[in-house]
Amino acid sequence: MTMTDYLIAPSILSADFARLGEEVANVLTAGADIVHFDVMDNHYVPNLTIGPLVCEALRKYGVTAPIDVHLMVKPVDRIIPDFAAAGATYITFHPEASEHIDRSLSLIREQGCKSGLVFNPATPLHYLDYVMDKVDMILLMSVNPGFGGQKFLTSSLAKLREVRQRINESGHNIRLEIDGGVKIDNIRAIAEAGADTFVAGSAIFSAGRPTDQNRYDTVLKALRAELA
Ligand code: DX5
Ligand code: ZN
Repeated sequence: MTMTDYLIAPSILSADFARLGEEVANVLTAGADIVHFDVMDNHYVPNLTIGPLVCEALRKYGVTAPIDVHLMVKPVDRIIPDFAAAGATYITFHPEASEHIDRSLSLIREQGCKSGLVFNPATPLHYLDYVMDKVDMILLMSVNPGFGGQKFLTSSLAKLREVRQRINESGHNIRLEIDGGVKIDNIRAIAEAGADTFVAGSAIFSAGRPTDQNRYDTVLKALRAELA
């Protein structure tokens, strides 16, 4: 894995929502690769966040970087075309939240987006068995979904190794993303376990202040230095 294969995806869950466009622009200018967009419905997870209108607003604001929509909603199919129309690049969902996983994955690609499955810490990987040719991204949760700022569960490292092996054996071009508790002091071990795409919410945005956008730059540089 070379440095350029690694992508850092700030989770805007920890951004200042009152100044979201500016926050996203600042973090991209500071060197982030993709925008991680957490969608919560107060049903599949016990929290409520943002939907397609906000994704569309970021595109209208001028954000051109890939937007990585992480659906924590149930059901998923109804909202997929809305996010595609709103400018999503990736759309990932939790297999437990869809009655027909193959159909949801196909729907995402039919709508012109890249598809992915998300695994909670206790969700088994067998959901991948028959769909490796239908996913562009596999996202492993290293916390239970619903909130930013939680502690990284170290059991995710063994799971990452397992998924990395599955991806290599499949021969498909699939990104392996990790989400939850990623910090400067653990990103290297996470990369060594096989991740190539790193969501970081509180690690990045809690370092910022409205007057000091350079702080995102400092954290992003430190994360990248660990990956070098
Ligand atoms: C949690 C979300 C994460 C969260 C990560 O359900 O999926 O993307 O924002 O936040 P940190 O990096 O603070 O753990
Ligand atoms: Zn997420």
